Formats: sequence, structure tokens, C-alpha cells
Amino acid sequence: MPECRICGGAVQRFFDFGRQPVSNAFPTPEELDREHFYRLAVGVCAACTMVQQFEEVAREQMFPGEYPYRSSGSSVMREHFERTARHFLATELGGDDPFYVEVGCNDGIMLGTVRAAGVRHLGVDPAEAATGVAAADGARVRVAFFEESTAREVRAAEGPARLIFSANTISHIAYIDSVFAGAHALLEEGGIFVFEDRYLGDIVEHASFDQIYDEHFYLFSVRSVHAMAERFGFELVDVEHLSVHGGAMRYTTARAGERTPTAAVAEWLERERTRGLAEAPVYERFAARIESNCRELTALLTKLKAEGRRVVGYGATSKSATVVNYCGIGPDLVPYVVDSTPQKQGRVTPGSHIPVRPSADFAADYPEYALLFAWNHAEEIMAKEQEFRARGGKWILYVPDVHVV
Ligand code: TYD
Ligand code: ZN
Repeated sequence: MPECRICGGAVQRFFDFGRQPVSNAFPTPEELDREHFYRLAVGVCAACTMVQQFEEVAREQMFPGEYPYRSSGSSVMREHFERTARHFLATELGGDDPFYVEVGCNDGIMLGTVRAAGVRHLGVDPAEAATGVAAADGARVRVAFFEESTAREVRAAEGPARLIFSANTISHIAYIDSVFAGAHALLEEGGIFVFEDRYLGDIVEHASFDQIYDEHFYLFSVRSVHAMAERFGFELVDVEHLSVHGGAMRYTTARAGERTPTAAVAEWLERERTRGLAEAPVYERFAARIESNCRELTALLTKLKAEGRRVVGYGATSKSATVVNYCGIGPDLVPYVVDSTPQKQGRVTPGSHIPVRPSADFAADYPEYALLFAWNHAEEIMAKEQEFRARGGKWILYVPDVHVV
């Protein structure tokens, strides 16, 4: 049995999606024969309960300089990070010359507010094109993968950090021991390492299996992060559940003994224990729902096609790579997908080769049905696309189950 990347324990597989492409590698029509595939399977560690994949995709393959994802593409996420930055400015980042480091800053969605407040900061992210947007906005960035050596270099050049923050990035890093060693080396005494990522509890509850793709190497729970922090000389001192991205959790860690854990940590550990989140039945049910959701979705799309209805995809998300490739949805069922990211437009979706078109193409030729791949932004998108519904258009969702609204 494979060994846990965190603790060396035995990892029990609970789902195998087979051969999958790199989720954010949108090929141009000329690049179709050069796609990279890997085996996407997930399991849970019998010892520390960390849910993880078995095959690691090379980081340069997942996060090249031209990585197309842009965090600022959602107004809800812009508000979320502005609020988060203001919270930290009012709590951790006061006093004498604090230094803020952000791992995976992307286009500066969070860094912008910290920079505008005049706080010393550094964003670390290998996605050169995305960080270029942050830099053009005046933020300080370093194009690099965050690991122990990077953290030591930053500390030597700029001094210790009071806060290391990271959103939707730490779970992407298989070699997380090096990340914690880096945080250990970089933080000042009493400083904290805070990260937020999709929450395993929400993923199994809502059967959002599309959250499983190459970048989400780990699916964190409070229990697994609690154990992981301890293993790497840290302590989980606070947790906060977030509604973004279909359900996420913010984990606050500090060097062991430097802060007193809040009651929320014990409460969430107990909640997960009561739910049996680390137990086999949860994963068996989840696996069964993945199969049935996929079956129902392809059956619906096939039926609509037979009836001569047109279905267009909405949001060329990374998540959708797992849905379309595992369920076998191609341009025959969904002729194109619209997306607001210029870097994805004019290309095709990885593996499934569905053309990606600009958002404006949606209203220019409303389909009868829109398959909402960006379901985590449903409220924002449906509010902006009211005209589609007003003209009789219908949304297809597949989380938590296949339904039409
Ligand atoms: P997102 O769900 O944030 O992430 P992931 O790629 O991790 O699954 O991706 C949202 C995608 O949807 C992104 O490519 C931008 C696109 N999008 C739109 O086209 N229109 C919108 O109004 C929003 C909010 C997103
Ligand atoms: Zn483990």
C-alpha cells in the first residue's frame, strides 16, 4: 500500500479517476498531441487521516510561467480577500514594521490591499504572468516556488515575517514538509502561518468530486491538518469555516507552544469525529455518489442532445477537467464553454478538447441550457446572467446532485 506523504502511514485508495490531464493546461489547437496525463486516484491515510493523491504531477507542469488562472476573475473572491486583508491589517499586521509574506499570490488579489496599507510585503508565486499583474499594480513579488530554501533566502534578505498567508495553494504542494520547514525558518517569534483551502467535509457532504484534480494534491480536514502541523513542529491554533469555493477552511498555525488554541479547534475536531469524516463509510458513500452523479449528468446531456437542445458550458474551471474527462463529456455534448479569462480563450479544455470562448459569446447566442462548471460562483454568475433565464434558459448543475434550475 502506498505511503502517506505526510506521516508514512498506509494510504487506502477510495477512488480512481484513471488517466487525467493537467487541469490548467489549456492547449492551443496545435498543441493537442503534447498534453501531459497522469493517474488521478485519491486515498485516505489510516494513521493521520490526510486525504491525498498517489501520483504527483511535476510542479513546473502544473504551474508554468504562463499559468492561466487569475484569482481576480470573481468579484466575490475580490471582496473575500479584501475583507481578509483588512482583518489581518487590524489584527496581526499592526505595530512596528510587520512583514507579510504570501504564498501563491497570483495576480495580487489579496496583496493589493496589504500594499495599499503601506505594509512591507512579498508575494511568492511561480506563475510569472499572473504575478506580473500584481507587480504592475505596485506589489513586491518573487517568481518562485515556496519551499524551505526560498523561505531561508527571504528571511536572510528581508528579515522575519509576522504573517505568512496562503489561499488555495498549500494543498497543491505535495512536499509540504518543506513548506512547514520554510515557515519555521521565516516566521518571527509569535508569528503565524495561515492558509485556507477547500474543506474535505464540504467536498464529501456535497459530493463535489470535481474538487479532486491535479492541483488539489491534498484535501484537508481539521483533523489531518492538526496532525500535520504537530508533525512539523507547529500547532493548529484556530480554524474558521468559509463559504467560498463551495466550502473552505482557514487554518491558523503557529510554532508549537507560541499561541493558545481557540475553542474552535476542539469543536471542529469533535464535529469531524461525530460525522465519521475519517471513517471508511464516508468514502464509500462519496465514491458511489461520484459514479451516480456522472452517470446522471451524461444521461441528461445525451437526452438533451437527442432532443435537439443546445448545451453550452459556463466557466472553463480547473475543476471541470475531472468532470468532463471522467464522465466522458466532449464537444459532441457540449460544443463550447465560455470563460472570462483571456488566457484560456481560443484554446481548448485539457483532455476533452472543448473550445473555450469569451464570455460575450454567451449572450450573443444564448443556448437553451448552460452547464455551470463554475458552480462555486453560482450566485455571482446567475446574478450577472439574469437575461439568460429571462429568455427561458436553464442552468444545469451537478453538485450536490444533477439538477436543472
Ligand atoms: P474557479 O472556480 O475560481 O476555480 P478553479 O479553476 O479552481 O476550478 O474558476 C472560475 C472560472 O470561471 C475561471 O476560469 C473564470 C470563470 N468565470 C467566468 O467565466 N465568469 C464569472 O463570472 C466568474 C465568476 C468566473
Ligand atoms: Zn498520514
